[in-house]
Amino acid sequence: MSKYKIALMGGDGTGPEVMAEAVKVVRAAAARCNITLETTTYDFGGNRYLATGEILPDSALDEFRKHDAILLGAIGHPDVKPGILEKGILLRTRFELDQYINLRPVKLYPNVETPIKNKGPEDIDFVVVRENSAGLYTGFGGVQKKNTPHEVAEQCMVYTRFEVDRCLKFAFDLARKRNKTNTLTLCGKTNVLTFVYDLWERAFHAMGAADYPDIKREYAHVDAITMWMVKNPEWFDVIVTGNMFGDIITDLGAMVQGGMGIAAGGNINPEGVSMFEPIGGSAPKYTGLNVINPLACIFAGHMMLDYLGEQEAADLIEKACIGFLKSGKLPGMSAKEIKESGMSTTKIGDDIANRVATL
Ligand code: IPM
Ligand code: MN
Repeated sequence: MSKYKIALMGGDGTGPEVMAEAVKVVRAAAARCNITLETTTYDFGGNRYLATGEILPDSALDEFRKHDAILLGAIGHPDVKPGILEKGILLRTRFELDQYINLRPVKLYPNVETPIKNKGPEDIDFVVVRENSAGLYTGFGGVQKKNTPHEVAEQCMVYTRFEVDRCLKFAFDLARKRNKTNTLTLCGKTNVLTFVYDLWERAFHAMGAADYPDIKREYAHVDAITMWMVKNPEWFDVIVTGNMFGDIITDLGAMVQGGMGIAAGGNINPEGVSMFEPIGGSAPKYTGLNVINPLACIFAGHMMLDYLGEQEAADLIEKACIGFLKSGKLPGMSAKEIKESGMSTTKIGDDIANRVATL
């Protein structure tokens, strides 16, 4: 029997609601697979910050380190200036726990509508490996002569060979593990960012030639890749890129796979504690209405079990989600469609948990 300690951070807005459904489903899968889960709930987020001034204390990070994984709902509160919670909770956890990979599967499930004409689940199934610890997100830079006509602001894209190499290694290994088309595409901007993406490109080919001769290497500029992701998503298997480009192209990826209601991601430290989250925001206007789609958070729970090495439990969740989607009970992924269909956040969670229990 395996046992895991999971930290639950529901966060803001509808975060705690989708989290509750994900936990329901994960628990159902655990029960089927002889897994014991011990959970600790943390209430960090906008409400706590407004009430106490506390964002994320160092002690919380120390506690997270004692867990096997973290499941996150959503961060972002309408009464808190943008950036404070995102940087103070989400980015801080990513950096402090050195979750240097942001893994974002772009997979179109059956019966999920994609805005891309004439493409189906057989065409849309790739993964973006976004570097998650450096690049434009490091905070290198600063501002001088603020609020004068001569104000200077700079924010630097910084990468070390070490950071690039560990990210590339993860991506190559993933391409090999998926064993789909055995292709890894580097997404960069070597025609303009001739220092940073030149480093990525050299490291990419050096590692590929030396250690991954079985993996085909391709390259696309970031601007071009946004065209191909829409026009020919079937070309991709694994895409690897830096932090900022990864942030941008994975929102496009989320839309391609049916929207924020379904897209999940993992902040992975392959040697440490990883954090799984739905990509979407806290959707404050839907808070407490029981209409927000919990599927993305349920898929985050699926990824979490997968990364804990609980393949059977993870597969049960994915199969249950597919069964639910195929049942046609959900006309669409948005809160509006869920409300109109007579479904609800909790009903979706119950339905999927039930399938997990009886599959
Ligand atoms: C994401 C988000 C975050 C990011 C924000 C909220 C800081 O957009 O997870 O993609 O930029 O990484
Ligand atoms: Mn983003």
